[in-house]
Amino acid sequence: MKLLVTGGCGFIGSNFIRYIIKKHPSYRIVNVDKLTYAGNLENLHGLKKKRTYRFIKADICNASQMTKVFKKTKSDTVINFAAESHVDRSISSAAPFIKTNFLGVGVLLNCALEFGVKKFLHISTDEVYGSILRGKFKEPSRLDPSSPYSASKAAADGLVMSYYRTYGLPILITRSSNNYGPYQFPEKFIPLVILNALTNKKIPLYGDGLNIRDWIYVEDNCHAIDTVLHKGMPGEIYNIGGQCERTNRFVVKTILKILKKPASLITYVQDRPGHDRRYALSVTKIRNELKWQPRTSFSEGLKRTIAWYLDNQGWLKNTQTGAYRTFYKKYYGSLGLKDL
Ligand code: NAD
Ligand code: DAU
Repeated sequence: MKLLVTGGCGFIGSNFIRYIIKKHPSYRIVNVDKLTYAGNLENLHGLKKKRTYRFIKADICNASQMTKVFKKTKSDTVINFAAESHVDRSISSAAPFIKTNFLGVGVLLNCALEFGVKKFLHISTDEVYGSILRGKFKEPSRLDPSSPYSASKAAADGLVMSYYRTYGLPILITRSSNNYGPYQFPEKFIPLVILNALTNKKIPLYGDGLNIRDWIYVEDNCHAIDTVLHKGMPGEIYNIGGQCERTNRFVVKTILKILKKPASLITYVQDRPGHDRRYALSVTKIRNELKWQPRTSFSEGLKRTIAWYLDNQGWLKNTQTGAYRTFYKKYYGSLGLKDL
């Protein structure tokens, strides 16, 4: 297989590339990434010398750059991870989300069509369904996104599906729940809690802290994406859930306990606007049709994740520069957490 992975320098993309190289050593992988604040070449250190792996710095929104990439690499399969991915940032400024998550996907779809790509796997999210207080979302559930981030992802899902129905492009879509694990940028909840706890800083808990997320260890998601890539039916959408619902308050308290840090670090702050109360996915389809299910328990995944951050404090420190500082100085200031 000649894979074109976009956004491979981010959290899930880099875990996926390492997973695929181990599982399918003969596959050729081209990783295209713009290297935004969330993209980090350090996430793939050690792969530079691999004969089967190549990195190209490019923007999926740039049609001429992407045409060159498709022409040069002759990739037969595309997996699109590239996105602006953080909800709080989308609330502060929606434009980059609309651009990359919708228009960028349009550029990739046009190239895939023009160059006769055999499979186009688009990585979407459970957030496109919105919040659910009881029950679980299935793949045909109505899309009801709450943030500019999830709205841009929902719009992209529609566009991807339209290329299947209109042009017969063999697409697949995955919608996964909240991932956690090594190499996650510390703006996301779990690494942020770990980082702040390690440095004895306050941990902002939005609203009453009782919002629920369904957590999946990133390696389980990589396994699911690999399964969909090889066994999924073109034109189909697959939910990927960790089957592990936890309140945010529970997650923070568990991390603090493991790190032996006081609960007094928790600071309740004003809620995120449009904050989805609960995410919950039915995984019946992927379990029954493709025989996938998550393997890692939350306690095991969390232990591995914390161990990784403890062993990689240099990586963590390197993420605390430039764009990270600029955004968070202003953002935490607005939450009344000036001492962060
Ligand atoms: P991330 O923010 O860690 O990484 C995104 C990557 O995309 C970065 O390397 C960045 O440089 C790159 N990128 C951004 N804009 C680009 C552009 N215009 N051109 C090329 N590259 C660009 O994100 P993540 O958490 O790894 O998420 C990956 C995908 O999975 C996203 O599509 C996201 O919507 C989806 N997803 C994430 C989660 C989660 O919990 N993290 C859950 C479900 C779905
Ligand atoms: O559900 C999948 C989605 O999960 C992905 O599509 C997104 O890319 C990813 O960012 C994630 O979105 P969330 O908004 O659920 O994740 P986040 O880590 O930002 O927040 C998780 C929960 O923790 C959410 O209820 C908000 C809360 N939170 C978050 C932060 C950053 C806090 O209470 N305090 C915080 O400082």
